[in-house]
Amino acid sequence: MTISALIVAAGEGSRMGGGLPKQFRSIAGKPLVRHAASALLGHAGVGPVSIIVSPGRVADAEASLAGLDVTILPLGGDTRAQSVRNGLDRVATPHVLVHDAARPFCPSPVIDRLLAALQSGDRAVVPVVGIADTLAAAGAMLGERIDREAVVRVQTPQGFDTALLRSAYASWTSPDAPTDEASVVRAHGVAVRTVEGDIMLDKLTSPADWARAEALHGANLVARSATGFDVHCFGGPGPLVIGGIEIPHDRGLAGHSDADVALHAITDALLGAFSLGDIGQHFPPSDRQWKGASSDHFLAHAAALARDVGGIVDHVDCTIICEAPKIGPYRGLMRSRIATILGLKEAQVSIKATTTERLGFTGRGEGIAAQAIVSARAPAP
Ligand code: CTP
Ligand code: MG
Repeated sequence: MTISALIVAAGEGSRMGGGLPKQFRSIAGKPLVRHAASALLGHAGVGPVSIIVSPGRVADAEASLAGLDVTILPLGGDTRAQSVRNGLDRVATPHVLVHDAARPFCPSPVIDRLLAALQSGDRAVVPVVGIADTLAAAGAMLGERIDREAVVRVQTPQGFDTALLRSAYASWTSPDAPTDEASVVRAHGVAVRTVEGDIMLDKLTSPADWARAEALHGANLVARSATGFDVHCFGGPGPLVIGGIEIPHDRGLAGHSDADVALHAITDALLGAFSLGDIGQHFPPSDRQWKGASSDHFLAHAAALARDVGGIVDHVDCTIICEAPKIGPYRGLMRSRIATILGLKEAQVSIKATTTERLGFTGRGEGIAAQAIVSARAPAP
């Protein structure tokens, strides 16, 4: 069965507040919409994924979804339901999953259950979760108790026979916009199957939800750390670039790229923290396209790979080992440059320097060495 997915991401996030709509803001280094899209793309049963955004937010969407195999459709409507209807016109598969970008974490077993229901002949299926709290009618004075066993919370993604969902929306006559597709299909007289949802799928609506989602996500991560080491010898054409900063010096370092020994050590540590190989594997010196390349690019690439495996970098520490030039005057610039490349705060980056008391190759001024350690968190294996 091929099922396409529509992720609606055209809201303003007014209840969350804070300027940029919530779907483009990051948890664990990734915008919500990127989390949501990656979760669906990562499931073998899900086919083309389209993201519905406001026409005025295409640039934010492109930045948030760069490199992912998704189609961005600037078809957002005035209401969530209108955004879904606009997107539905573009769906070409017999079944469709409709999902909120505001639900970043979608466990794969939930998708399994939705697909199994559709495969077994259900035409509409939704994930639901039970309620643990006592329920009662709202009011300044508490109203009647409501039987909590009698109600569930309905989440997304919701799965449908595409033709059914189209005709259900066409027959929706209420002036109120529905808040999900299951309501539309039920109003159309078609029964909706329920499968077990997951609290990881809860929608992020208010700032308190945001804090809770960050904590929930963090609880599924384990600490990682890895080291990196690099050496370059003097003899290059210059300029001397260390830690992403050009340093006036009478000699440059030799290397295939810009020979930035500190960024290379940090890149290797970063790759190591997520078991992603080493810098030589990703940027082989034999590959002409990296000749003279700025090492910013290597580090940014490693950071993007780390984000894509759900990793979070907590801290970077690098020691530069040389007699000259003096690193101290450039330390602040290096920290700020590296923090920018990695999307970290300057306080999360530390640069140290030492000599080797004139001993060894660094002591004789033949080259510069750097070693780095990255502390990070990654999804538990
Ligand atoms: N959505 C949409 N088009 C709209 C309104 C909402 O695509 N006109 C999307 C949102 O981007 C979100 C999902 O529908 O992914 C669920 O909506 P909600 O949580 O209400 O998000 P917002 O409408 O953005 O938030 P708010 O209601 O607080 O403004
Ligand atoms: Mg809304």
